[in-house]
Amino acid sequence: MCGIVAGVGIENLESVLLDGLSRLEYRGYDSAGIALNSMEAESVLLVKTPGKVKKLRKKLNSMSTEERGLQFSAGVAHTRWATHGAPTEVNAHPHSDTAGTFFIVHNGIIENYVELKKRLIDEGQKFSSETDSEVLAHLVAECYDGDFLKAVAAALKQVKGTYGVAVLSTKHPDALVVARKGSPIVIGLTANGVLAASDTAALVAHTSEVIYLDDGDIALLSPGNADIRNLDDLPVSREKMKIDWDLSVVEKSGFEHFMLKEIFEQPKALRDTIRGRLDHEQGAAVLSGLNLSPKEMLDANRIIIAACGTSMHAGMVGEYFFEDLADIPTEIEQAAEFRYRNPIISPNTLVIATSQSGETADTLAAVREAARKGASTIGICNVVGSTIAREVDRGIYLHAGPEIGVASTKAFTCQVVALLMTALKLARSRRLTREAGISLVSEIERIPELAAAVLEKNDLIKEVAEKYSEAENFFFIGRGNLYPVALEGALKLKEISYVHAEGYHAAELKHGPIALLEENVPVVALANDVPGKEKILGNIQECAARKSPVVAITTEGDDSVAESADVTIPVPRSSVFTTPVSTAIALQLFAYHFANKRGCEIDQPRNLAKSVTVE
Ligand code: AGP
Ligand code: GLU
Repeated sequence: MCGIVAGVGIENLESVLLDGLSRLEYRGYDSAGIALNSMEAESVLLVKTPGKVKKLRKKLNSMSTEERGLQFSAGVAHTRWATHGAPTEVNAHPHSDTAGTFFIVHNGIIENYVELKKRLIDEGQKFSSETDSEVLAHLVAECYDGDFLKAVAAALKQVKGTYGVAVLSTKHPDALVVARKGSPIVIGLTANGVLAASDTAALVAHTSEVIYLDDGDIALLSPGNADIRNLDDLPVSREKMKIDWDLSVVEKSGFEHFMLKEIFEQPKALRDTIRGRLDHEQGAAVLSGLNLSPKEMLDANRIIIAACGTSMHAGMVGEYFFEDLADIPTEIEQAAEFRYRNPIISPNTLVIATSQSGETADTLAAVREAARKGASTIGICNVVGSTIAREVDRGIYLHAGPEIGVASTKAFTCQVVALLMTALKLARSRRLTREAGISLVSEIERIPELAAAVLEKNDLIKEVAEKYSEAENFFFIGRGNLYPVALEGALKLKEISYVHAEGYHAAELKHGPIALLEENVPVVALANDVPGKEKILGNIQECAARKSPVVAITTEGDDSVAESADVTIPVPRSSVFTTPVSTAIALQLFAYHFANKRGCEIDQPRNLAKSVTVE
């Protein structure tokens, strides 16, 4: 949630910060603001606005040079996803203390802000916003005795909750302080100055050398230097890492939306997820990041997959893989449930966290709860160096490249494949034969071309989606490992078109929801030619009998569904283990074209954010 960009000693600092914010808008975009230390006027230029970064840019450009100055030594900028206080100008970040000495941008939630705010007001501080974040600026001012870093550290020690922060001070015009606990901060080292941001997407145009802060880290940034410490002022050493992708990857490359680009990137993304990870000779998966010993794999007697949203749906598909291939009892847990339900963890329980961003607060907390209870934790993440990726015992990166569209697409299919390869690895250490493994390896190898074949149906899917673009309610139904795909298809439609869509197990419809079916409530039925198809044909009949139009996803060459459905979208024939990937891509395109036909905001839908780093 929210994007932070900050810099000191950076040329053209204002535009660097604004451009960086624009690349982080997928993280949250209900309001924005910037504070710049103006060398000439020895004051801070503070500009904030409800709405997106382009409104902030416009507001800055409308100011005269006298009003705003041109040379800035340090600055902090923020694009917000509100948790406390409506998205208004006064609630937008940066927030300052009463005297206007310290300016702070914050990502996260200050859970004890009410008591802190009350004490600060009793002591004479004047608050201007409804946010939790503003207490931080007043706390820093209260703790300041000349040492900038120590003042911020002392303030943060009073805080319960999560933070990623960047702080500016009029008393230290060529310095910044950044810190993190639960919300990401990554430092970018450039030839002259130092940048800091919530995500490398804001840094990649200026540097490939970055340092990820860990929870509890705080750093004093000055031109050419990043002094990293803990909150007790003890030096901390953090590894310099290289960003392994370039700016073009975060551009749209000719597509109308990032989401469509990322849907069409899936053959490549899937190839990158699979690359180097299949052993054709042994019919096994080679997942070096998993480093489970043969005995650990043999002893594993339970798997819990903890995740949120689309990643939870991928986990639900994975549940079938682990049980069908590796004979390991597996359950999926919504991460927020897992973290608070005092989960039962027995020895040899594997807890897998699937998370595209690797920063989702509930999933991160689930990992920490699992570790606290002695479980072996595995992360399946896309963002290298993300917090979950760094905190689990072992893991697998998707290598799918940055996913900018808020509606997750390529991350879902790549997570499904990563889970399938993990299940194969476990299965081959247990009962799965080499021959069966070799057969599955060849199926996995085919997935990128399977994805490409579905993408060739784009025009057909567009036509079908637009045919039903007036509908205001949908059902998506599936069975087996396509049931989670039905849930995912419904989520995609909901989050980018704001239309009500329910994913349901096909057998469940008649236990109540069927009451909602009528001619203007289309049903998307996943009727691929895999086990359970005969049953879903019956469910399609049930829907048709209530006059609901039925759009059936079918297997190419299988005409048994056509007479029951109003429209069919055929996808290539494939194994039961890989059909979730092809079907999901068809549903992604359906949702995209449906929403686009309705003129919806595709990449940054209302109320959403790409990375939910708050509870
Ligand atoms: C996906 O379309 C959604 N935007 C959302 O459900 C997302 O999958 C969820 O917030 C989990 O994010 P993560 O994969 O980064 O943990
Ligand atoms: N809790 C803070 C607010 O509501 C920060 C939210 C965010 O992370 O964007 O302003």
